[in-house]
Amino acid sequence: MTSSHAAAADIDVITSHFPIPGFGVVPINAFVIHGSEPVLVDTGAAVQSDEFLATLRTVIDPRDLRWLWLTHTDFDHIGSLPRLLAENPRLRVITTFLGMGIMGLSDPLPIDRVFLVNPGEKIAVGDRTLTAFKPPVFDNPSTTGFYDGKSGVLFSSDCFGALLSDVPQNASDLSDTDLREGQVRWATLDAPWLHKVDRAALARELDVVRAMAPKMVLSSHLPPAPGHMVDRLLSSLAAAPGAQPFIGPNQAALEEMLKAMTEAPQPATV
Ligand SMILES: [Fe+2]
Ligand SMILES: [Fe+2]
Repeated sequence: MTSSHAAAADIDVITSHFPIPGFGVVPINAFVIHGSEPVLVDTGAAVQSDEFLATLRTVIDPRDLRWLWLTHTDFDHIGSLPRLLAENPRLRVITTFLGMGIMGLSDPLPIDRVFLVNPGEKIAVGDRTLTAFKPPVFDNPSTTGFYDGKSGVLFSSDCFGALLSDVPQNASDLSDTDLREGQVRWATLDAPWLHKVDRAALARELDVVRAMAPKMVLSSHLPPAPGHMVDRLLSSLAAAPGAQPFIGPNQAALEEMLKAMTEAPQPATV
């Protein structure tokens, strides 16, 4: 199910859940920033495009959007991108050279409809300025998050995601354990390179986010997190390199799972 709720006065979340059998549920979030030049941040999962667009229409007419900030080109972020571009000829995609290149392998972005940003660069979108940044943890080379100078909100793409058993509307409703374990599990699954990093170098990257002191952190895969949670969010990521690496089920495990599913008691029929 896809639904929406307000994360801040001028920011809506469009959220759905995606199960990873045996590991939990991962939220998939996109965001609408309302303002004189409305911005959509990512476009949901490809398999949920109809639901995504229906929910988007409850918070904004897609033809009123001016910008689409594509944090990266994974399938849980580009699901409704081609349909939105077709529906709104004014919509312009903020991405990177790599993002444009990767999209060229499936749904090429018209060159006059992209706006390329690199980390550290700023873009003015009506009543606010967005500063692009490379999140400390990412799973795609085109990844670019940003800091919104007007709201003080940090949009972090896949960074700070968590695998959860239940998904509350706000990350502050998660227990310390669920947040930490969920974040570490997600980080080891989504960014296995974390096990190879120099921990001091990672700590310096995390300090960059700490110094930003955002009022809120919005992740593609975590409910909205108020600024007072930043230290906890960063400390989970600092622990990820030492956590057990993620190894997915192999064929034998898959066959066991299928067998358990077929042998499970079936609901009685009349
Ligand atoms: Fe991703
Ligand atoms: Fe993602």
